Amino acid sequence: MPALVLLGAQWGDEGKGKATDLLGGSVDYVVRYQGGNNAGHTVVVGDQKYALHLLPSGILSPGCTPVIGNGVVVDPSVLFSELNGLNDRGVDTSKLLISGNAHIITPYNVTVDKVTERFLGKRKIGTTGRGIGPTYADKINRVGIRIQDLYDESILTQKVEAALDGKNQLLTKVFNRRAIEVGQVVEELLGYADRLKPYVADTVLVLNQALEQDKVVLFEGGQGTLLDIDHGTYPFVTSSNPTAGGACTGAGVGPTKISRVIGILKAYTTRVGSGPFPTELFDEDGDALRRIGGERGVTTGRDRRCGWFDAVIARYATRVNGLTDFFLTKLDVLTGWEQIPVCVAYEIDGRRVEELPYSQTDFHHAKPVYEYLPGWSEDITKAKSFSDLPKNAQDYVKALEEMSGAPISAIGVGPGRDETIEINSFL
Ligand code: GDP
Ligand code: IMO
Ligand code: MG
Repeated sequence: MPALVLLGAQWGDEGKGKATDLLGGSVDYVVRYQGGNNAGHTVVVGDQKYALHLLPSGILSPGCTPVIGNGVVVDPSVLFSELNGLNDRGVDTSKLLISGNAHIITPYNVTVDKVTERFLGKRKIGTTGRGIGPTYADKINRVGIRIQDLYDESILTQKVEAALDGKNQLLTKVFNRRAIEVGQVVEELLGYADRLKPYVADTVLVLNQALEQDKVVLFEGGQGTLLDIDHGTYPFVTSSNPTAGGACTGAGVGPTKISRVIGILKAYTTRVGSGPFPTELFDEDGDALRRIGGERGVTTGRDRRCGWFDAVIARYATRVNGLTDFFLTKLDVLTGWEQIPVCVAYEIDGRRVEELPYSQTDFHHAKPVYEYLPGWSEDITKAKSFSDLPKNAQDYVKALEEMSGAPISAIGVGPGRDETIEINSFL
């Protein structure tokens, strides 16, 4: 029962889409288990480039069944436009399965996300504005709307009423906005019901039966470990659990079924939105990483904040996810630096700290302690095996592996499917 979890080991955008797509040809199911269309995954197949937000990256592999699990929040209009875009390019999306228990991102959740951020001003989180936080808040407050509610108009109406009761007070009295009409929302949501119907399934049953039949299931995380609501840099996080445990709750599969947990790790670090980032660069090195690495958000088009590799974070990701492997991405982006700084510890108020501090105050004060590793200038994008890499690139990878606490089993040397060095097989 090979069940693999593939997740971001940093602050997202590590290259999860490419890694999932790479494995997609050998797996039977690819499952998104949390998040929504706040994710942005770029997948390059030959000369074709795809930007996916809500759909699992396995959708591009024929033979693989893509699944949207119960832990995901679904904006139906985004789902349909993503499906239409893929269909127009000849991608068959008919196998998609969506959990009837997944929550719907309603138009009022998107409104509340945007007005809340505006209200926070300088203290804003820098969300993607896609309604993610308010939809999860409704879920926890037990006033969420689930996909299955679209098939009972009376229940749907009662639930929308309950959800809007408090929200309209907030919108009109605090945020100075117009109230949202129940009838209008119900009508819009019902308009999605027929097209969604063929995809809706008991995905928990489907996935557990698949595992019993020894099928290969890959759970694909959105976002990353440091954006996790419990284990990330709270409050500058997303509102779900991208960490490994999230795969169990977000797909309905027990932890004893998971055989491997792969952390996708960029050879340097990036972050989008607000929040602490100890190795962030504000100089020409940061600009160069952004330019060479193409570090611009797939979802919001925002420039990503860039910095050197942070081994403290990588060690932390190994621990909280129980990582068995790393997939190191974008090593090619570091070609050309004479030496490459790597953060091995933090200095916090005069103390050297080797592990991620649990205190937010300490983390805000953390200054990186760097070791300087020799760089390389040779083009590595054609490398097919570890021994094809220049000695200094090999040493950089080995040093990262040693510091991070799990074997690096694959290395990305370019965005394409085949621009990958496989060291240990994942399957
Ligand atoms: P995700 O959100 O984790 O799927 O990552 P994104 O798609 O947001 O960002 C990763 C970017 O890096 C995408 O543009 C990928 O095409 C690209 N990419 C992935 N792996 C590599 C790699 O090894 N080298 C290079 N140069 N680009 C890569
Ligand atoms: P992928 O899957 C990078 C960030 C936002 C913001 C915070 C909260 O492509 O790696 P939200 O809209 O989720 O409430 O915003 O989380 N964020 C991401 N950053 N990659 C992502 O997804 C992200 N999804 C959310 O920028 O700081
Ligand atoms: Mg992304």
